[in-house]
Amino acid sequence: MSTDISTQFVIEKVKKSRVSTVDFETLTFGTVFTDHMFECDYIDGEWKNPTIRPYQPIMVEPSLKVFHYGQAVFEGMKAYKDDEGQVWMFRPDQNQVRINKSAKRLAIPEFPKEWFFEALNRLLVLDKEWIKKGDGNVVYIRPFIFATQPEILASPSNQYKFMVILSPVKSYFRSDVSVVIAEHYSRAADGGVGAAKAAGNYAGQFYPTNLAKEKGYQQVIWTDDTTHQYLEEAGTMNVFFRINDTLITAPTSDRILDGVTRKSVIAVAEHENIPVEVRRITVKELVAAAKDGSLKEIFGAGTAVVISPVKSFSYDGIDYPLEKPKDSYATFFKKRITDIQYNREEDPFGWRYKVNADNY
Ligand code: COI
Repeated sequence: MSTDISTQFVIEKVKKSRVSTVDFETLTFGTVFTDHMFECDYIDGEWKNPTIRPYQPIMVEPSLKVFHYGQAVFEGMKAYKDDEGQVWMFRPDQNQVRINKSAKRLAIPEFPKEWFFEALNRLLVLDKEWIKKGDGNVVYIRPFIFATQPEILASPSNQYKFMVILSPVKSYFRSDVSVVIAEHYSRAADGGVGAAKAAGNYAGQFYPTNLAKEKGYQQVIWTDDTTHQYLEEAGTMNVFFRINDTLITAPTSDRILDGVTRKSVIAVAEHENIPVEVRRITVKELVAAAKDGSLKEIFGAGTAVVISPVKSFSYDGIDYPLEKPKDSYATFFKKRITDIQYNREEDPFGWRYKVNADNY
């Protein structure tokens, strides 16, 4: 592959932007898409034809392997606009590495790092009017790869498509969530694909989450697949527990996603001298802490939600409500992280990534 990546990108711009037709105050997460999308194909053993074109439907055959065997991975990222109108991303290097880790686990060829960054930068510059200033306004970035070989033999595809679409969003959940601890269903198993951002990991959650919703809960806290005693993730997020003043989260494993927000919370906690323990935590410990009053908070952490406070959890048919403490860690971490994301505060970690319009 030539190193002069900028000359290889084909760019077809929209004739007229749709941005003025969108009501940015009433956005439902992931339902509106910006003017442009990125597309690149893996054919004959290499990635080729990196193209930005107007957001539009793609025409595919019904036999594509992705429809039959679920060979697909994705990422979730965000772009922010500061008060001066400069656009930023948050730790995009982490997502770039992770999509390739996920791809490897699903027998998908890795996507070149230079093209990943070129695609994101160019798209964000082209669609920068879609990123509105102000807290909570972001463009959610969805890079994804799927198997495009038109064949239903159950084997890895020899063709793929890498795409990036952008969606202007506000919050993911409208309020704090109530959750139920999984006693039967599992999100992931040892040796499986739980650590990958594989599309099927999310599909597998829908049915048990629907059952939880029927009972009035919004999300499921996933437990380990063997004993259902260890707390692992919450819905589509990593999960943190605060017992007294100590923050606890499960270690990553091949069942737990190495979340960018998760590792940012841990780093901020260490930086601020907040005691943090990355260790396994049992349902028994959680229930005991809820009963003796030492359980102060539970919150989910993920790109889409940032930090999502849990207002109650249910286990074995009993609901345990949680009152938000005045010195809420959830509120603190959300502010600390979003202040960095929106370029409102110093970034001692070097996490902010400037999208530079001068390059294009
Ligand atoms: C994210 O937090 O970005 C995710 O990938 C979760 C997604 C299912 C909305």
